[in-house]
Amino acid sequence: MLQEILRPITINGLAIKNRIARASHGTSYGRGTITDDLIAYHEARAKSGVGLNILEATVVHPSSSNHTVNAFDDSIIAGFSALARSCERHGMRSFVQLWHGGHRWAPANGRAPWSASNVPCPLGTVNVPFAMTMSQIDEITEAFAAAAWRVKAGGLDGIELHFGHGYLVHQFLCVLTNKRDDSYGGSLDNRMRFGRDIITAVRDRVGRRFPVGIRLSDYNTPGGLSPEEAGEVVHRLCADGLIDYVSASMGSPYSISTMLGAMDMPAGYMQSSALPIARRANVPTMIAGRYRTLREGNQVIREGEADMVSFVRAMIADADLVAKTLAGQEERVRPCIACNQGCVAGIRTSLQRMLCTVNPAVGMERTMAEELIVPAEQQLRIVVVGGGPAGMEAARLAALSGHDVTLFEAQPKLGGAINIARRAPNLSAIADITHWLEQEIGILGVNLRLSAYAEAEDVRAEWPDVVIVATGSLPRMDGVQVARPERPVPGFDKSHVLSSHDLLHRRRDRLGRSAVVFDDVGHYEALACAEYLIEHGVKVTFVTRHSSFAPQIEVMVRTGPALRRLRRGDFTLVTGGRLVSIDTDCCEIGYLDGEQVWRVAADTVVLVTYNDPQNQLFRDLGGADADRLPFALHLIGDANAPRDLLVAMREGHLAGRCGKTWQAVLS
Ligand SMILES: Cc1cc2nc3c(=O)[nH]c(=O)nc-3n(C[C@H](O)[C@H](O)[C@H](O)COP(=O)(O)OP(=O)(O)OC[C@H]3O[C@@H](n4cnc5c(N)ncnc54)[C@H](O)[C@@H]3O)c2cc1C
Ligand SMILES: Cc1cc2nc3c(=O)[nH]c(=O)nc-3n(C[C@H](O)[C@H](O)[C@H](O)COP(=O)(O)O)c2cc1C
Repeated sequence: MLQEILRPITINGLAIKNRIARASHGTSYGRGTITDDLIAYHEARAKSGVGLNILEATVVHPSSSNHTVNAFDDSIIAGFSALARSCERHGMRSFVQLWHGGHRWAPANGRAPWSASNVPCPLGTVNVPFAMTMSQIDEITEAFAAAAWRVKAGGLDGIELHFGHGYLVHQFLCVLTNKRDDSYGGSLDNRMRFGRDIITAVRDRVGRRFPVGIRLSDYNTPGGLSPEEAGEVVHRLCADGLIDYVSASMGSPYSISTMLGAMDMPAGYMQSSALPIARRANVPTMIAGRYRTLREGNQVIREGEADMVSFVRAMIADADLVAKTLAGQEERVRPCIACNQGCVAGIRTSLQRMLCTVNPAVGMERTMAEELIVPAEQQLRIVVVGGGPAGMEAARLAALSGHDVTLFEAQPKLGGAINIARRAPNLSAIADITHWLEQEIGILGVNLRLSAYAEAEDVRAEWPDVVIVATGSLPRMDGVQVARPERPVPGFDKSHVLSSHDLLHRRRDRLGRSAVVFDDVGHYEALACAEYLIEHGVKVTFVTRHSSFAPQIEVMVRTGPALRRLRRGDFTLVTGGRLVSIDTDCCEIGYLDGEQVWRVAADTVVLVTYNDPQNQLFRDLGGADADRLPFALHLIGDANAPRDLLVAMREGHLAGRCGKTWQAVLS
């Protein structure tokens, strides 16, 4: 049934055992070098049976800095060799993606970024770039060639030149970012000249027999490089015999959400951009875009849409995707929910390290891989209270370690707050992980007590060795706004003032015609409420105390698409705002720092303020003096402090492994 994707393929004479690929993705595990963590991360996926891996965007020249791998001097060769050795013993081929970020990534020394012209990047706050001089064009061309030689010297199998995603070579290819009037600007042939120079120099350095391909996307923005024009680039490069494969992708910084489609995007969502590129190639092609199963990938190849299919986030979430599928256990593959909270946000926020919401061991395979778990010498009685993600992940890990685990859940169904979140438009995929957890703890034989609200006495009656309290959090609904804590907003106790939980359970005919959503938190919850209301035809005034819309999830590239969907309805955004009072059919609202107040109609008011951790059970069990209890006591997830799914899973994972701490694991 998986015949197509399991068929071997050859790239410029290099045999690859199947068509299962992992496209390049930055992890920041290297911090400039190839670390043991980076090797272990890739080796775990090699063991599973992947055919081809492309190492993350690897920096060719210090004029563009990143937190990935630097290949601009010979010191990297030893690291490449170590990576090659660890992956080739499992039969996985490894290429390296060579990269220069152009105007998107400035040099570390704070100087202006280099680009085709002085057009600033639409993302972030990097400086205005300067147009590269001829000698700088030569310098970067040589840097690509030298880095390619280091890849070959390190014993890796091939090169991918990053020509897409709005990075330097793409900036030359696209008229929006290339305003040059010399031989590197103007006609398509001229705009391709820099890319051609690079390929030719790389070929000269590594030889004709070494695989060299490109990654190319469209710009996905009006006036930018179109899929058809990108296809023409591929056609011309193939006609000149310059490239051995093409990885076709989608997007640029002008359309960042399409490069990293979140859970609102279906499998294969990149096809509208990638297929016009791939179809012009007469060499093997690869595509990506939220593929999660080998069956989906097999179908892509069967349809003739591409020769290889990439599974990036799917295999971040589960290193064993291939092995489990081939063993007939596809349903046991841990699902990627495309939340982008761990992977994309991880590398872009303060931790600067790729994480995974659903798989807390990612990037720590050397110490935390689940295959390292050995049955405990002494079986413990472990009681978990709360069947949300934190409690289920704790129960799963404890059961994997061979303990006797009982899980109490007050509701008749497992899932916790995720059962509410999944009711919102475009969030249903979030429940894939709680369904998987439920399946796994069932297989592992966890004793489930559903519809069982546990009090301290119930817990003690189990004679536990370990108690894990994962009782979640609930909306406060006390009407207090963080920026105006002096008194609750008048009218907060009226019957049409709802929490997110109330709203998402409310019938359509009881939503009214207009609503105010007040957001104190700036995260996913108020956004989910606004989407729910707009989807049901309700006019929404969204009042946030923050200076932008849902700033906490912007880094996950989820804000832009959500705003676009909301604006298709009757949606008004008030930033830096507050609720002044709530009346039966309207609200008074104002700015945080001004006297001006105005009224907006509202049959429904939704208050999204910081939640209240449900930790009474922890306190009743003696949490204040936990060292003197006859059992170990842990408080995890939102019950510890209301945060999100990523932290809930992580704390559940660590508690289930009986006492490992996140700090200890990272150090
Ligand atoms: C609308 C909405 C959208 C969201 N969107 C996102 C998102 O996009 N990304 C994200 O990361 N997070 C999101 N979240 C937050 C996420 O759902 C929570 O952070 C996460 O579920 C917390 O997990 P938890 O296991 O700690 O607690 P919970 O999921 O709250 O689970 C706690 C469980 O404990 C049970 N319980 C409580 N007391 C007892 C007791 N005494 N005995 C037995 N059982 C008990 C409860 O019934 C509940 O099932 C969203 C939440 C909402 C409401
Ligand atoms: C954390 C992360 C880092 C990425 N870094 C790169 C990169 O360095 N180079 C690149 O070409 N694409 C990068 N991508 C894009 C992926 O290669 C891929 O196209 C994208 O994740 C969509 O595929 P998927 O749905 O299978 O994850 C990155 C993606 C993620 C999630």
